[in-house]
Amino acid sequence: MIIKIIIHPTTQPIHSKSSPAKGYFMQQTQLSLDATHRGMRFVVLFGLLLVVALVIGACQPVSPAAPVAEQATPAATEEPVEAGDPANGEYIANLTGGCGCHFNSDLGGLAGGRKFEGPFGVVYSANLTSDEETGIAGLSDEVLISILRTGQEVEEDGEIEVMHPIMPYMTFSVMSDKDVRDLVAYLRTLPPLSNAVPERELASDPQPFTPAAAPPAESPTEPVVRGEYLVTLANCGGCHTPRNEDGSPNTDMLLAGGPIPDEIAANITPDEATGIGRWSEEEIANLLITGIKPNGDETAGAMAQQVRRRFSRLTEEDALAIAAYLKSIPAVSNDPYSN
Ligand code: HEC
Repeated sequence: MIIKIIIHPTTQPIHSKSSPAKGYFMQQTQLSLDATHRGMRFVVLFGLLLVVALVIGACQPVSPAAPVAEQATPAATEEPVEAGDPANGEYIANLTGGCGCHFNSDLGGLAGGRKFEGPFGVVYSANLTSDEETGIAGLSDEVLISILRTGQEVEEDGEIEVMHPIMPYMTFSVMSDKDVRDLVAYLRTLPPLSNAVPERELASDPQPFTPAAAPPAESPTEPVVRGEYLVTLANCGGCHTPRNEDGSPNTDMLLAGGPIPDEIAANITPDEATGIGRWSEEEIANLLITGIKPNGDETAGAMAQQVRRRFSRLTEEDALAIAAYLKSIPAVSNDPYSN
């Protein structure tokens, strides 16, 4: 078994692993390297194997590298997967933000190529369309699901590439098997757009991520549990939970409001004086779908945009589930406008 974390930036657009010829070529390169540097390679590989196995062993099934003959025909070994429901997949995609980071306005679709730059280096969003060469057509459902929920792309030869966490796989890690399959089914419906995305350039390798708990097979249906699930996927906390100095969410003040760029996100805990404790569940659900507050005012700024782009498409049942969850969390007395 050969597993290694890619130590250099990828030399290919992220999603172009479909060519059998390339898989074969990589295998050849590996073999000749083995012959010349066998001793050192063994030590390095063994160390990496140990680390990788320890880190991902618990959550990530890694299949051994396939023999060369098999590797030349990856499609033939793909397991049939129960067909996902693209309509539900689109609903989930919309709730999480419509994969907006992948939107390419020149090409008018999720063809990727958007540049994200920071002290960590540069990454580009991937082409999510069904293009054979530059999109996700060549990736199996299993590979896509692993990318979505763990940020790990297990390649044909067993190598693992860890995505930069700008891709919100930590949020998506709670996604049920059903919803993630449906999401993949939705992505498969995106008409192909050819767009080769530049390679990433990172200062250091992202750490492999292990989800705290295994995701459920089916999506929760009990209102409070489903509400929490939806609030997590929609990342309401990204705006409504204040942050510690190091930028991490202040979990003692879950959804208690705080500053976001250019404005203040409200306290949406059940505190009567500073939160939304006086709102009924219907009023909360109504705000999510229409943007109208109980006093008749329209919500403004970032929240209005979220309602327009995402939450207005929630089913009434799901908006009420979110409201039920918001009513169930600890009330935190915090007036974010006065801080
Ligand atoms: C992009 C940032 C952002 C996200 C994401 C976001 N909100 Fe908001 N939200 C805001 C801001 C800012 C306000 C205040 C708007 C205003 O003053 O009109 C607000 C207001 C609200 C209010 C009204 C509170 C009040 O006292 O008027 C509710 C309820 C609410 N959000 C719930 C949610 C829920 C539930 C989610 C996730 C499903 C969510 N928000 C996601 C930024 C956000």
